[in-house]
Amino acid sequence: MSAPAPATATPEIHRGLAGVAVDTTAISTVIQETNSLTYRGYPVQDLAARRSFEEVAYLLWYGELPDATELRAFEARERALRPLDRTTAELLARLPETCHPMDVLRTAVSFFGSEDPTEEDDSVAAHHAKSLALLARLPVVVAADHRRRHGLAPIPPDPSLGYAENFFHMCFGSVPDPEVVHCFEVSLILYAEHSFNASTFTARVVTSTLSDLYSAVTAAIGALKGPLHGGANEAVMHMLNEIGDPDRAEAWLDEALAAKRKIMGFGHRVYRHGDSRVPIMQEATDRLVARAGDPDVTRLATLHAALRHAMISRKGIHPNLDYPAGLAYHLMGFDIAAFTPIFVMSRITGWTAHISEQLEHNALIRPLGVYNGPEQRPVPAHTPG
Ligand code: ACO
Repeated sequence: MSAPAPATATPEIHRGLAGVAVDTTAISTVIQETNSLTYRGYPVQDLAARRSFEEVAYLLWYGELPDATELRAFEARERALRPLDRTTAELLARLPETCHPMDVLRTAVSFFGSEDPTEEDDSVAAHHAKSLALLARLPVVVAADHRRRHGLAPIPPDPSLGYAENFFHMCFGSVPDPEVVHCFEVSLILYAEHSFNASTFTARVVTSTLSDLYSAVTAAIGALKGPLHGGANEAVMHMLNEIGDPDRAEAWLDEALAAKRKIMGFGHRVYRHGDSRVPIMQEATDRLVARAGDPDVTRLATLHAALRHAMISRKGIHPNLDYPAGLAYHLMGFDIAAFTPIFVMSRITGWTAHISEQLEHNALIRPLGVYNGPEQRPVPAHTPG
């Protein structure tokens, strides 16, 4: 008689992969003890205060900050890669205006892949070239789409302008004063990278099958779109518009919490005592409010502060980066639907850094599921009745 087969232990379930480490990364980390975020070892607050977004992109991809010569060469390459070809511009112009701008971006990246003859080349050099081309072109797509929705012709990129300034130029035909550009650049730096967040993890899952970079980025855009992730910066503004009046903030919050609604722009899987990126973004946003000197803006900022205060005192849940960033983008004049695409223009740097890192020591990402469906049963001989 053979011994009974040992019972297989049911694997422990970690819903949402909460608290599960799936790999190592040298790109960024949240240091819980000091509640800080570092990119390649540098505190993100210091990078935002002292460096440009282009320098941060270089740092994320190459591991070190560029010297002056490296930066000049990097900027020149990014600026040269910006223009869209006619076919792409025509394809994007044919998408329905009813679709979300994130769908436009997702389609654009997929299309870039289909027309890139090096799509399947996964050498380090090819990855860098594709990442830089995406960094250069995504803002052109977002700006052209923004203008199309306002019935306006696209404005070609200006190679004399830096990444942030050029985006304003392509959206509005002018560059605002340096304080506004600085606030935007701070947001891009803060949004650039955040370890194994949902969209980055999505990009790593796709890459782990040895699929191509464009497929990984297309999937990451889909993951970022959701309101529990990047889509929250848009949801914040919709929520503030819904509340409207600062005096309604507390009552609105009580009702929303009683209805078990998620309050957008609050909470975080990793930070339990506040998102380390918020103070610097909030400070930059406050400067935008102060310089506006407009009663409507003051009302919105008062409402924003009242809701933050009420949420912290009611639930002890702090805002995440999307809370001040959503308000900042509104004050800069962007449409709400452009907020998450702007996040993509920044996070493309972190995603592509992770795609390269995943390939350096790849392991197929394939977790288990614990089955809770029907017991095994025979297939009926034919459909009854
Ligand atoms: N509003 C109301 N309650 C909240 C919120 C919130 N924003 N965030 C957390 N909670 C509550 C949950 O309801 C839960 O309460 P319970 O234990 O009584 O059920 C508790 O806090 C723990 O929350 P979880 O949802 O388990 O925490 P998790 O780590 O899964 O969620 C998440 C993190 C998804 C970000 C969540 O806080 C949330 O939905 N926030 C709103 C959406 C948002 O702002 N997303 C942006 C994330 S940051 C970024 O992408 C840049």
